[in-house]
Amino acid sequence: MKGVVLAGGLGTRLYPLTKITNKHLLPVYDQPMIYYPIQQLVNAGIREIMLVTGGSYAGHFLNLLENGGDFGLRRLHYAFQRGEGGIADALKLAEDFVDGERCVVILGDNIFENPIAPAVEKFRQQEAGARILLKEVPDPHRFGVAELRDGKVVGIEEKPIHPKSNYAVTGVYMYDAYVWEVVKTLKPSRRNELEITDVNNAYIARGALTYDIVEGWWTDAGTFESLLRANMLVAAQRQSSSAKV
Ligand code: DAU
Repeated sequence: MKGVVLAGGLGTRLYPLTKITNKHLLPVYDQPMIYYPIQQLVNAGIREIMLVTGGSYAGHFLNLLENGGDFGLRRLHYAFQRGEGGIADALKLAEDFVDGERCVVILGDNIFENPIAPAVEKFRQQEAGARILLKEVPDPHRFGVAELRDGKVVGIEEKPIHPKSNYAVTGVYMYDAYVWEVVKTLKPSRRNELEITDVNNAYIARGALTYDIVEGWWTDAGTFESLLRANMLVAAQRQSSSAKV
């Protein structure tokens, strides 16, 4: 199983913080944002990881992460995304690296209270297809939103004005090799991006998408509000774990 961390995009919603570095290098409490998704993959037993990034400050990742030694990795793989063509466009750059294996993809601005490792383990046991993680949220219109029927995801809409549920699709996507066929067929969306939601809908169409519900909190960190929330959630978690020691 390979791991892919997507940390491209220009982070314009966090301007001027992102005027001088990449969004994923901004602090979330006591660590740079990018540490959280990498640590999730490592905790799930994944040792071969590619980081996809882009923009003017891509080199900052090398300075910070080097070969991934702080995470116990022998090496980290890097790819450079030109422009901001979307999450699925960034994923395309990992095809040769993943090399026909299964992969766990995680967005560089997604932070979870609990390990995603149990869901990754279920995906390892799953015969084929894809697996996503859902979380009930008060503001589903900000995310991809899953429509659930009889315990199955029957469709996902990207940032719908009238969400069909409160279940947001979080930024963890597990795929088999079919994903590489799907990404080649994608067309740019209204926001001119190749959408990961279209990839997941292709798996739904062939009855091959499963899911887990995230326990504990989950947040993205790509806006001022969510970056502040991420900082506060991690701070509270650190304080409660140090109080237990
Ligand atoms: O956080 C979960 C949400 O992430 C999902 O619910 C949505 O379905 C999904 O589209 C995405 O929504 P956002 O609009 O919040 O994604 P954003 O453009 O903020 O990008 C999230 C991360 O994806 C970003 O931190 C880095 C990576 N990315 C994004 C783009 C647009 C890339 O690597 N390259 C890109 O071109």
